[in-house]
Amino acid sequence: MTVACLGGGPGSDVLGVLDYFMKYMADFKGQLDIQLYDRKDKWGPTWESLKTAMDAELHDPRVTVSFYDFDVTTAGKSKPDLQKADVITMHYFMEEVYSERERAEVKECFDHIIQTAKPGALFLYSGMYMYQVINWVHQLLKDNCELLTPDMELPGQPQKIYKDTSTGDWKWVSYAEVDLHQEGDLQLFNDIRDDLQTGGYPTEEVSQRFKGNVVYRLYRKK
Ligand SMILES: C[S@@+](CC[C@H](N)C(=O)[O-])C[C@H]1O[C@@H](n2cnc3c(N)ncnc32)[C@H](O)[C@@H]1O
Repeated sequence: MTVACLGGGPGSDVLGVLDYFMKYMADFKGQLDIQLYDRKDKWGPTWESLKTAMDAELHDPRVTVSFYDFDVTTAGKSKPDLQKADVITMHYFMEEVYSERERAEVKECFDHIIQTAKPGALFLYSGMYMYQVINWVHQLLKDNCELLTPDMELPGQPQKIYKDTSTGDWKWVSYAEVDLHQEGDLQLFNDIRDDLQTGGYPTEEVSQRFKGNVVYRLYRKK
């Protein structure tokens, strides 16, 4: 199974996938290949620290983690090979590139990713409640993917609204309440905490995201 984390930053998404894998996939017999795509000029040193920490603490022959230099705004780095990916995550990533969405390289990048993804591949979009970004992601994916998370009101479920500009309708989007302070196993994160500052990632901002609401949507490539 291949999980590709677009805009995976210092490795937080990788740690999330690993955490889930260790807790819930003990009986998994195959290989898990986690690929992180982000800007190496920003995160290269942090990735090295993460690799060192994983080599020391993660002893599981089923798991490989690899890092790729990726920049949606730079033609030579904006065409990742995601044809094998079963899951493509975009966690707190699309909000960061939203302001560049009209650039030709950015349009080509997302077009390439969506067109070359295999049928059945899952796109997990998650992040802040920014309705413009939710709408942009939906417009990018809607023609080639099926939305699996409901966009209708579900009583008792935490949901927020956004306007779908292709139909003019107000739609619902799910969110999860996250409180990582309750987690006891953030050792790998703590190991790379100092490097986050070097990568220009304010640790206060990371701490804020320990507790809050994460909007999410799951799409499946047709
Ligand atoms: C808010 S961080 C999220 C990182 C990680 N997914 C997380 O949740 O901790 C946004 C990420 O988008 C990346 N990013 C911003 N602009 C980018 C671009 N043009 N191409 C590729 N990645 C970019 C940043 O380097 C950063 O790692």
